[in-house]
Amino acid sequence: MKIEIFEMERAQSLWENRVKYNLTESGVHPYTLEEFLGSDEIEKLLSIRLGYGQTNGSEELRESISRLYPGTDLDNILVTNGSAEANFITIWQNLEPEDELILMLPNYMQIWGLARSFGIKVRPFHLKEELKWGPDLDELQGLISPRTKMIAVCNPNNPTGAVLSDSEMKEIARLAEEADAWIYSDEVYKGAELDGEETPTFWGLYDKVLVSCGLSKAYALPGLRIGWLVGPKKKIEEAWAYHDYTSISSGILSNWIASLVLEPERRKKALDRNRKILNENLAVLEEWVQKHKPLFELIPPRAGGVAFLRYNMKIKSTELADKLLKEKSVFIVAGDFFGMDHYIRIGIGTEKDYFKAGLSLIDETLEEISGKSSI
Ligand SMILES: Cc1ncc(COP(=O)(O)O)c(C=O)c1O
Repeated sequence: MKIEIFEMERAQSLWENRVKYNLTESGVHPYTLEEFLGSDEIEKLLSIRLGYGQTNGSEELRESISRLYPGTDLDNILVTNGSAEANFITIWQNLEPEDELILMLPNYMQIWGLARSFGIKVRPFHLKEELKWGPDLDELQGLISPRTKMIAVCNPNNPTGAVLSDSEMKEIARLAEEADAWIYSDEVYKGAELDGEETPTFWGLYDKVLVSCGLSKAYALPGLRIGWLVGPKKKIEEAWAYHDYTSISSGILSNWIASLVLEPERRKKALDRNRKILNENLAVLEEWVQKHKPLFELIPPRAGGVAFLRYNMKIKSTELADKLLKEKSVFIVAGDFFGMDHYIRIGIGTEKDYFKAGLSLIDETLEEISGKSSI
């Protein structure tokens, strides 16, 4: 089967470890195990036998995850290799060619590319800048048809950092229920809210809800490759059979560490540490945007590790990103990857000095371009 190239992820795979300043990362500066575990726990880690483990996720881990979703127990949870695998399984499991999927855009483009490669009809509804990246729910309503099988959202959103309000979530649930469609909510940025007010989950708003999440972003642990899917028991049992084909199991060491990470106190500590980093860097970025006024427009993200900026220069976003990559070894995400030229996405989860150094190099490029090219 031919696939559509996942352009952003491909570019990241090629460059993220080769550049001096990688500002494409959408999570927070990753933890080391030493920062996270006590010496007795590291000792215990060394003694774990490296078997497959329970392939749908260890009981301890599913128990910890289930605590985050009222009304669930272990059988509502499937542990996956990152939330990327949860996304893959969900699309593969639930949609047939010619089904219609209504997808929130802009978005992490995995579901977009995957569903289209599977022959599913993807019909986008948009978050609008004029609504401070709020959703156009009239547009969503207008897209619903008898073929609509699923409405997929990313909340908090990548790349805008927007968070749906309670009433927007309820309205999306109402529309889905009316259409008898599934809601699929990618919530991998839940917990990375800059004001500390945790985004509610879609789980529980309606019977046909599936949720993915994981430890890569809000928890700053992408290297563990732990994600999960939450859903009605029958769906999750069936999804497990799909998981037998994709990766069999997630890593046994990661399962054990993840169950510790989700202990309430440790979880809070991690989210607090990460929020502090995000807030500090957002302040740096806002000052930088101010300095460059009127070159950039920024609606500050409410959650997540990225800021999405519109710029007023006559250079295409891919060209700007390439120029920064080749001339300054600074890597940012071009808006073109989201089908939105004249925007760029900048990660705000890195260490502060690194972040500032990356921005200064962008300054040099802006100086070269400016004057010649304001729109
Ligand atoms: C919205 C969203 N979902 C899923 C993923 C995949 O992340 P992971 O597989 O590391 O959990 C990403 C990665 O950037 C993302 O932004």
